[in-house]
Amino acid sequence: MIKILICGASGMLGSHVQRLLLEKAAPFVALNANQMDITDLNALSDCIDDGKFTHVINCAAYTQVDKAETEIEESALANAVGPYHLGVVGKRHGVKIIHFSTDYVFNGEATSPYCEEDPCSPVNAYGMTKWSGEVKLLNEYPKACVIRTSWLFGFPGKNFVSTMLKLMQERDQLRVVADQVGRPTYCQDLAQAAIDLIDAEGIFHFANTGQTSWHQLAVEINRQARELNYPIKTESITPISTDEYPTPAKRPLYSTLSTEKIERYLGYAPQPWQEALRDYLVHAHDYYSSHQKV
Ligand SMILES: NC(=O)c1ccc[n+]([C@@H]2O[C@H](COP(=O)([O-])OP(=O)(O)OC[C@H]3O[C@@H](n4cnc5c(N)ncnc54)[C@H](OP(=O)(O)O)[C@@H]3O)[C@@H](O)[C@H]2O)c1
Repeated sequence: MIKILICGASGMLGSHVQRLLLEKAAPFVALNANQMDITDLNALSDCIDDGKFTHVINCAAYTQVDKAETEIEESALANAVGPYHLGVVGKRHGVKIIHFSTDYVFNGEATSPYCEEDPCSPVNAYGMTKWSGEVKLLNEYPKACVIRTSWLFGFPGKNFVSTMLKLMQERDQLRVVADQVGRPTYCQDLAQAAIDLIDAEGIFHFANTGQTSWHQLAVEINRQARELNYPIKTESITPISTDEYPTPAKRPLYSTLSTEKIERYLGYAPQPWQEALRDYLVHAHDYYSSHQKV
């Protein structure tokens, strides 16, 4: 019988994976960063060694893209060494590892969606550490599964959608980058895909269907949030270029992932990002109301 260990369980994706497994009444143990540090090989070994688990879903990662430019050691430990450790213990005990990576492994110079086999060439430190993690994990344990995903939103957690929602309730005008294009992904849909891929091997891409820019995404958040009676103040969202919004870490301008492979494997296509956004806005509102957060 399947029994799953979730690492990084209190993060944004980890929270969705937990909720989904609870809904399905599937047996699992959820450990946060304090309870299980994936950079600690002995702790990981002790936890997995006794045959308690058949699968590990690794939601643990260092995800602060800008800070990673200076906190290189910390991000490399969590994003590269941690997955390698999971590969070591997974292989030793025949425990399946499901791990997540990012569209930021690509340099953004493509003009059509990135396939799993396309060459990686990250433009920032976070992308480098995530790519290194994929390679180390799969070299050690080729039966592992790596799901590359992009532009996540979910709850609880700080993400582009939650940040926009907050700003839209405070400001009349916003300026949002319009020349970076990618595929938004709702963590609930990603969590379901991870469960559906539980016995798959190798690299897969998953993101909601359709591509957009951060600016178009912000416009759609504004439209849907108004429909759902969020107290929105923002009347104008001005498109700006990446050059007008400098950040410590460079971002790929185009990071649309092709999901053809996973669609063939799963037998379904991810829902369009606009529908996923609506699901999020409805459920996040309920979640934060019941947890008394703004
Ligand atoms: N967010 C995005 O837009 C995005 C896009 C593409 C791919 N991804 C990938 O998707 C996955 C999930 O991301 P997310 O947004 O859910 O991240 P998140 O909210 O930042 O959660 C990551 C969790 O990992 C924990 N963690 C950090 N270092 C750890 C360690 N050494 N051992 C155990 N736990 C550790 C963190 O704990 P603390 O908070 O206590 O440090 C946090 O709870 C990651 O692999 C990420 O690279 C994310």
